[in-house]
This record gives sequence, C-alpha cells and structure tokens, in this order.
Amino acid sequence: MTETLKRKTSELERLLVRVALEHAPAALASSLSAEDMVITDVVLRHGLGIEIFTLDTQRLHADTLNVIAAIRKRYGYDMRVFRPEPEAVTEYVVKFGRDAFYESAELRKRCCHIRKVEPLNRALEGKEAWITGQRRDQAVTRSELEVQEYDAARGKVKFNPLADWSEDEVWTYVRAFDVPYNALHDQGYRSIGCAPCTRPTVAGEDVRAGRWWWEQPEARECGLHVEPDGRLARSKTEVPA
Ligand code: ADX
Ligand code: SF4
Repeated sequence: MTETLKRKTSELERLLVRVALEHAPAALASSLSAEDMVITDVVLRHGLGIEIFTLDTQRLHADTLNVIAAIRKRYGYDMRVFRPEPEAVTEYVVKFGRDAFYESAELRKRCCHIRKVEPLNRALEGKEAWITGQRRDQAVTRSELEVQEYDAARGKVKFNPLADWSEDEVWTYVRAFDVPYNALHDQGYRSIGCAPCTRPTVAGEDVRAGRWWWEQPEARECGLHVEPDGRLARSKTEVPA
C-alpha cells in the first residue's frame, strides 16, 4: 500500500468510528460492490456499530447475491436484505412488461423507484445517517461529491467516505486485506447494478459506461442519490446543527 492509501485508510477508519459514535443509528447501503466491500471490511473487522444492508432488486446477478454468503462466511455477519413491494412489481410488469425500462427513461426510472428507491427509503427509516460507496471519479454526476453531505430529500446525514478514492486504491485495499468481492469484476464488469441494466466495459470506457448504457451519461442515476428530475438529492448548505 502506498503512503497515500495508508493515510486514506486510517482516515476512513476514523470517519466510520465517528459516524458510529456521533450519528447512531447509522447504516451502510451496500450494493456489494468493491467500494462497499472496503467499507464493510472496516465496519466488521473493527466491530463498529453500523448496520449493513443491501437492496435486492430481484434483478441482480447470482454472482452479486453470492457476496452476501461470502460476507457471512468471512465475517460471520448477516446483512439485512430489503426487497421491493411485490404488488408494485406486479403492477409494473402487468402494465408495461418486465423489461419495459429499455423503452424510455421514464419507465426506467419508474422501475428503479419500485425496486431500489422505495426499499431504500424503508431501509433508512429510523436511521440518523447513511453511508454509501460512491466515488467522485465514477461519473459526471458525482464530480462534486463531498465526504459528508445532507440528504435533504430524506432528512438524513449522508457520508461518502470513499469520495476521493480512485478505483485502483479500492482494488489495492481489497487485495491487501483479502476482502471478498463480486466474481463479475473478474469478467470485465467495473460497476454492477441489475443484470439487465449492466454490461461489462471495454478498455477506454469510463467506469459506469456499462450501467444503463443506452442512456446519456448525465442521466445514468437511479434515484438513490439523484432526484427523478435530475436534481441532486443532497445539499451542502442545509447540514443541520
Ligand atoms: S447506483 O446508481 O446504482 O446507486 P452505484 O452502483 O455506483 O450507483 O452505487 C453507488 C452507491 O449506492 C453504492 O456504493 C451503495 O452505497 C448504494 N447502492 C447502489 N445500489 C445499491 C443496492 N442494490 N443496495 C444497497 N445500496 C446500493
Ligand atoms: Fe429496474 Fe434496471 Fe433500475 Fe434494476 S437498474 S431497478 S432492472 S431499471
């Protein structure tokens, strides 16, 4: 590990200790990505009181779901799994078709709302703060990401502790601490979401080029972090005292 990465790792540990102490109850939203696994590793190795949950959209790859069992095996931790409301899924499928998200941005966001955003809102009920694995250099929509923000839409403090980490640094950490990860990463997938909306990337493409690849880069967000109308679901000024 470089000196820079050692410094970033100890900053990450200090930040998570602070979140656990000062912002309880806090939770990590984990998509089971390499980024979220770095945070998971710190939380579980140090026994920090931060809950970890994932949103199973019921359209994830089997390799992604396998990471849940890998976490249990490695750390003895059973993460909470939130799923969409069955009635809302059925209504969408019957009305528009299961894969209608390819037809328009509106139907894509509606699917993401049912399968990701509503379950996220449920997962965060009663939490004071939430933590994500977002990084600044992942997308044009994330270039101004701060480590600490205020999620105005949900009224929660939001932490993005890896905001200034590079993809290389994430992978150096994963290898150094032998952290479990999604096997799809070894098959050319750099950013992984639902199976029908994710494809592997080729050399020269940006890290999220395989997500909703048929849409414009500025639109490639699902509503977890950006409002449906494109506004960021965060504010740098409305941080409560
Ligand atoms: S997103 O558009 O799907 O949100 P990305 O896959 O880059 O983008 O994930 C960014 C962060 O959002 C993750 O590090 C994680 O904190 C949260 N997140 C995304 N998908 C999920 C999921 N299925 N379950 C829990 N958290 C998620
Ligand atoms: Fe639906 Fe695709 Fe969004 Fe998953 S990523 S919730 S399948 S539109």
